[in-house]
Amino acid sequence: MDRIKIVGGNQLNGTIPISGAKNAALPLMIAALMTDETLTLENVPHLADVEQLIRILTNHGVDYSVNGRREEQSQRYSRTIHFTARNIVDTTAPYELVSKMRASFWVIGPLLARMGQARVSLPGGCAIGTRPVDLFIDGLKALGADIDIDNGYVNATARNGLVGNRYVFPKVSVGATHVLMMAAAMAKGQTVLENAAREPEVVNLAECLNAMGARISDAGSSTIVIDGVDRLSGAQHRVIPDRIETGTYAMAVAMTGGDVLLEGARADILESALDTISQTGAEITQVNSGIRVRRNGSGINPVDVTTEPYPGFPTDLQAQFMGLMTRARGRSKITETIFENRFMHVQELARLGARISLSGQTATVDGVENLRGAPVMATDLRASVSLVIAGLAAEGETMVHRVYHLDRGFERLEEKLAHCGAQLERVGE
Ligand code: UD1
Repeated sequence: MDRIKIVGGNQLNGTIPISGAKNAALPLMIAALMTDETLTLENVPHLADVEQLIRILTNHGVDYSVNGRREEQSQRYSRTIHFTARNIVDTTAPYELVSKMRASFWVIGPLLARMGQARVSLPGGCAIGTRPVDLFIDGLKALGADIDIDNGYVNATARNGLVGNRYVFPKVSVGATHVLMMAAAMAKGQTVLENAAREPEVVNLAECLNAMGARISDAGSSTIVIDGVDRLSGAQHRVIPDRIETGTYAMAVAMTGGDVLLEGARADILESALDTISQTGAEITQVNSGIRVRRNGSGINPVDVTTEPYPGFPTDLQAQFMGLMTRARGRSKITETIFENRFMHVQELARLGARISLSGQTATVDGVENLRGAPVMATDLRASVSLVIAGLAAEGETMVHRVYHLDRGFERLEEKLAHCGAQLERVGE
């Protein structure tokens, strides 16, 4: 298993290109199941999770081809991929595939809408809390699906098709919003989804579905109205830039100091986090080509944050922000409201000399002058990158183990950081 070796202390200076968003690419790829025509997606990041979803889609009968770049480049860079689900050959998503990535459960929506049936294994994914699927099941039932669970599989049928309805999410869920929006796009009549997730990735999916012929309005607000259509066609659509990658590198610069252009980043989909980062003392400016982040030698201000559904501070940046706060000039409080058990990075940050105490869903971080390098273990995707951020500022050598977590969600991380002056490299075990 690969490790990443970091020698801390260097500032970051230069340009980091921001990749296509993993969390937008995954539901867009799944939407390819809804039409027998070709869905072309541009700016799909090259990540382990994308490759895993390709395996799952292929299992259902989706053909795909990659173009736009030379083969050796296409192994590493965001790509244009054509997906064609001319025939769905299998409506079962097996445990062996779904257990590796939670988002693959989302195929349940398109399969049910197009084929009237789906048998999908209960998911696995990041070890952050229990992450149930009750909202998906309740919502699909509201659209007329019959659902039962046996042997770890969800069996869903809608022999005469799904029927539009009003559904109020009892809790905001990004995945359940994606799935119900896809299912309702091909239901009979109108569906109104209330208390829907407002994430930019939901908007990106709705725009793609509309380009395919769906009639979805007000995605991005908490009430989405969907008028069902009989069929969807092919389309060409672009994945939005990754706002979590953007926030992560902005925090890395806020940590090390320096001056970096986050090329292609969009400030309008990350306002809350950018505002928080500027309160820590970094200077953030929107420029034509992206977002520029600068911090001079001055100290890092402590700032309290609470994670919330969009447009609040994202849970996917909580670990990274805690990494930054470990070196703040004072005390900060970080409260996690989206997932239970999303503090696994705390004990690893402590190995680098951070002073953090946990009480329920709140971490209290007392900033220290210096972190010291140490061997640490990545536990999930976002936690692992918080260790990289801390390692970039720690004295001496930090070795991050189990970096396969990073490969799930960060495209060319070492290359992007090294290009800006960080001293880090991937080493085989
Ligand atoms: C997505 C993101 C993930 C991000 C999360 C919250 C992708 C691929 N993943 O995950 O990176 O951290 O949004 O912004 O886009 N819940 C239930 N019942 C359900 C479904 C969810 O109780 O049926 C709960 C979850 O346990 C969690 C909360 O709802 O406490 C929000 O989860 P959700 O928004 O569904 O997360 P994901 O869509 O899985």
